[in-house]
Amino acid sequence: MVVPESQDKMYYPADDMKRDAHVPDFNSYLALYRKSLENPEAFWKEIADEFFWKKPATGPVLQYNFDVTKGNIYVKCMEGAKTNMCYNVLDRLVKEKNLGEKIAFYWEGNSPDHHLAITYSQLLSQVCCCANVLKQLGVKKGDRVSIYLPMIPELVYTMLACARIGAVHSIVFAGFSSESLCERIMDAQSSILVTADGVYRGEKLINLKQIADEALEKCRGKASSSVTKCLVVKHHALRTKSGAACNKLQTPWDSECDVWWDEVMKDSPEECEPEWLDAEDPLFILYTSGSTGKPKGVLHTVAGYLLYTSLTFKCVFDHHHDDVYWCTADIGWITGHSYITYGPLANGATSVLFEGIPVHPHVGRFWEIIEKYKVTKFYTAPTAIRLLMKYGREPLQKYDLSSLRILGTVGEPINPEAWQWYREVVGEGRCPVVDTFWQTETGGHVLTPLPAATPLKPGSATFPFFGVEPTILNEHGEELQGEAEGYLVFRRPWPGIMRTVYKNHERFENTYFKKFPGFYVTGDGCRRDKDGYYWITGRIDDMLNVSGHLMSTAEVEAALTEHPAVAEAAVVSRPHKVKGECLYCFVSLKNSREFNRTLVEELKRQVREKIGPIATPDFIQNAPALPKTRSGKIMRRILRQIARNEKDLGDLSSLADPKVVEVLFSQRCEAA
Ligand code: PRX
Repeated sequence: MVVPESQDKMYYPADDMKRDAHVPDFNSYLALYRKSLENPEAFWKEIADEFFWKKPATGPVLQYNFDVTKGNIYVKCMEGAKTNMCYNVLDRLVKEKNLGEKIAFYWEGNSPDHHLAITYSQLLSQVCCCANVLKQLGVKKGDRVSIYLPMIPELVYTMLACARIGAVHSIVFAGFSSESLCERIMDAQSSILVTADGVYRGEKLINLKQIADEALEKCRGKASSSVTKCLVVKHHALRTKSGAACNKLQTPWDSECDVWWDEVMKDSPEECEPEWLDAEDPLFILYTSGSTGKPKGVLHTVAGYLLYTSLTFKCVFDHHHDDVYWCTADIGWITGHSYITYGPLANGATSVLFEGIPVHPHVGRFWEIIEKYKVTKFYTAPTAIRLLMKYGREPLQKYDLSSLRILGTVGEPINPEAWQWYREVVGEGRCPVVDTFWQTETGGHVLTPLPAATPLKPGSATFPFFGVEPTILNEHGEELQGEAEGYLVFRRPWPGIMRTVYKNHERFENTYFKKFPGFYVTGDGCRRDKDGYYWITGRIDDMLNVSGHLMSTAEVEAALTEHPAVAEAAVVSRPHKVKGECLYCFVSLKNSREFNRTLVEELKRQVREKIGPIATPDFIQNAPALPKTRSGKIMRRILRQIARNEKDLGDLSSLADPKVVEVLFSQRCEAA
């Protein structure tokens, strides 16, 4: 392949972008890409040499089996090596690179009045204190620690403290319900839960400790609870100013189980010897939706994840020492794990850690923060871009955004209109937009442009990252060449790919490797155009992507059918201007029940309480009956078309009762 030229509108990297870039042009990308596939040993060894290894690897950089017909699926990276993630992202920088005084994080609170700057040395001390606290609370290597915290520095301290002592963190996004938290604690069998008293998200005060308590109560109800201690950060009480605008929280307290963070931290020693772990020891579990409705505990391991997140961060954001980088994701999702904590710290980066939301206290908050910290690299989600687009240019014009050099997006396909707005209005036409495609499972970017090397097409995640070998298959598992559309799969692992589903290797193999032996199946559809660019077309399983968050239809249906009025439910997606997709639910009621507005509100509340606010349905429609095949299978394709008001339904001959469709059409919801 040569430098792409195309009849499509392309955006070529500017010359000043190429100066000092880690991958300065497309030919360098191609040469490195080729090396990464032809000689992975040499390629990754060079990356590994940047880091500290207590013991060198004895095996090759990557060993694997991707073919279920040949035995169990496994991936191993740098077998035999001993290292520690926390040592590599903190001690190494402070002790070997002299970066102790460099700012690791600018923490910006929900309110613009609250902010902190944390240096690498301070971060190291806090992490060591926290590691000692965890040890004191009985946490040992291999134990799981559930973390249910908002975007505050203690979240980073705790995750790195776990990494330091070899405990496995399982972070649960602090917007999830008590039910979801309980499910994740039970699955991980965590011995400790770390939470906070409360937090403001915009104007809304959330009593996190109360939700955490409800979760622990639910765990106790289900079986003997694994959690022995709950460590509680005094965030709301200490950091939120008192006064009329600030509500006091009643923090429920169980003196047997609960421990205040500040009380145990103040006497905790600032030094803690890292636990030297095997390269393939687990680093963390992060739950992601599964199509059966039960979330999967995606497990990542130490060495491979370190190599992969650090290299992707360095190249995709073309990281340099004086950058100020800001990823707006929450650490409760994989984007925050890889590109707020591990990738940036491994590179000694300075990042913004933002607790709030884009529209509080005003709709220019993002732009205000960019100006305040002179952010150079900015990474956000299409849903946030679409939300902010609604307010036009005016809120941006009040701020100086001239520091920006690179813009990134992640989480869902970005529509060309949002892409253009991002580039022209936010980036003032100067900054490349890196549309990064990846998943919780992939650990880091797998399809992505490199800012100085890759000519861009709006809406395309362009080309594979180093070590990644994508291909497109048809329904029969045949590889498609040239221009094609089908299943996006990968032929071989890269260091950062997940290793298993926690405690359920069979589910790991069935979900990702069974459909097409020899390949990792992403679950996404993909098109390759005539120039070789990859375009993600969206999920091809029963998953929905709402505001960049994956959700399974089964999980929402289960929440709905738990309501006593509901006999059956089917959930599909409908396009949404800001969220990308939203939930459209069909419910069949039990005989005596009446469908009315009160019930709709109850059902919405039910889903919010079972899963969390992100899963709140936009539409709930009464369905006297659902369209089913003669064998009783719900035909979702038809429901999707009804939700979208697409009248041309095609062949309905397999339906048991075609009249159902007419009834559903006549009752469809127009507006939320
Ligand atoms: O469907 C793809 C979509 O998000 C899914 C992964 O979701 P999750 O594991 O929650 O991780 C999100 C953050 C990495 C993918 O299977 N997705 C993610 N990034 C993109 C995307 N779809 C299109 N373009 C992207 N850049």
